[in-house]
Amino acid sequence: MSNTTRTVNVGLIGLGTVGGGVARVIARHHDEYLRAYGIDLRLAKASALEPERAAELGIAPEAFTTDWHEVVADPAVDIVIELIGGEHPATEIFESAIAAGKHVVSANKALLGRRIDYLGDLAAKAGVQIRCEAAAGGGIPIVNALEHALVANGMLTIAGILNGTTNYILTRMTNEGLGYEEVLADAQRLGYAEADPTADVDGFDAASKVAILSSIAFHTRVTTDDVYMQGIRNISAADIEQARQMGYAIKLLGIARMTPQGIDARVHPTMIPANHMLASVSGAMNAVFAVGDAVGETMFYGAGAGAFPTASAVVGDVLELANGIASGLDLGPEPEPFPRTVPIRPIDDLETRYYIRLSVADRAGALAPVVAAFAQAGISISGINQLESDGSNTCSVVFLTHTACERDVQAVCAALEALDEVERVASVIRIEDADAWSEGAEKND
Ligand code: HSE
Repeated sequence: MSNTTRTVNVGLIGLGTVGGGVARVIARHHDEYLRAYGIDLRLAKASALEPERAAELGIAPEAFTTDWHEVVADPAVDIVIELIGGEHPATEIFESAIAAGKHVVSANKALLGRRIDYLGDLAAKAGVQIRCEAAAGGGIPIVNALEHALVANGMLTIAGILNGTTNYILTRMTNEGLGYEEVLADAQRLGYAEADPTADVDGFDAASKVAILSSIAFHTRVTTDDVYMQGIRNISAADIEQARQMGYAIKLLGIARMTPQGIDARVHPTMIPANHMLASVSGAMNAVFAVGDAVGETMFYGAGAGAFPTASAVVGDVLELANGIASGLDLGPEPEPFPRTVPIRPIDDLETRYYIRLSVADRAGALAPVVAAFAQAGISISGINQLESDGSNTCSVVFLTHTACERDVQAVCAALEALDEVERVASVIRIEDADAWSEGAEKND
């Protein structure tokens, strides 16, 4: 119980799913925030394009506007919450709120991922903070953990299931043996996937989150353009079944690693050992596996989307800022302006193991030039599995490699495509040796 009470006013822009959750959480917990922190947290002004949302959410008519400018310009508003998503006018909302000396809380991963450097610099110069817990992992408190509880570490690896839509699709493909298109259509019907699923299934959403988490974990600037991206459209039921037989699960992972050559930041379908903790994350849930040099391996699990989980993260950020404001602290900018201090390692330099599935002519001697192509590229094969022919002219052959360089794998795939014996390179999936994620961690005595 605090002795002093301080009113902190928030302005909320966007009353969609998450905005509605935020309005409800603030209203429901107002008295607890007052009791626990001495903060009288008020929704002073809210805006949305649909006036009926205000009534639905119990927002008084005088606290509602359809013009976001009025929220930012309201002199009572201390903190602006941007929850409209997209690039415009979200960028202008950030710019004008920062120019007015107001802190900004946002869940806008697409904008922050692409423009974290520009917006971060603006905020630093204005002496205000941008907080974005909800932008990576929804309700999972991973941003807070990286900024506070894990700050003593040199972070080594972040590997996460950062997109619920794709994890839902891959989980159902795995459990039910269904094809990608079939599950996607079902996911759209059930509301798990958007009508236009591009941002999710092509990896853009997860890449934005990798950019945000890498910037915070590695104290540098990583934008979405720095993150190599490949989605799940080409994953087939055959690949998932092959992976299962070999003891692996296929997940769309966002991976960021600090390497001696720079930051390795990527999103792609990944084969991980079936007994790894990330392999057991199913459905639309998210998880982040974070390795620090002192703490070792940690794992954070939770809902990556949804009105209330996301509102939990947004209001957590708001309360942290409100606490600072109420305590009379000069919050100032983030502790460091995060200049780009570490290079990005190109994907061509990646070294990992690979799963390569080929559609090959089903005739005597067809594998000889295929194996020769691997040898010529200097890629060592660790396993071969030819699936029995179904009587057609071609058959599937799966190659697993020892550790190889991405550049050489791309070269061998081009060489294989050019062979008469190879109908096509059906899929190439990177295999992650999860033990490598902890290289560099301190050993306990
Ligand atoms: N569309 C995202 C997902 C949630 O499927 O996880 C918001 O980033």
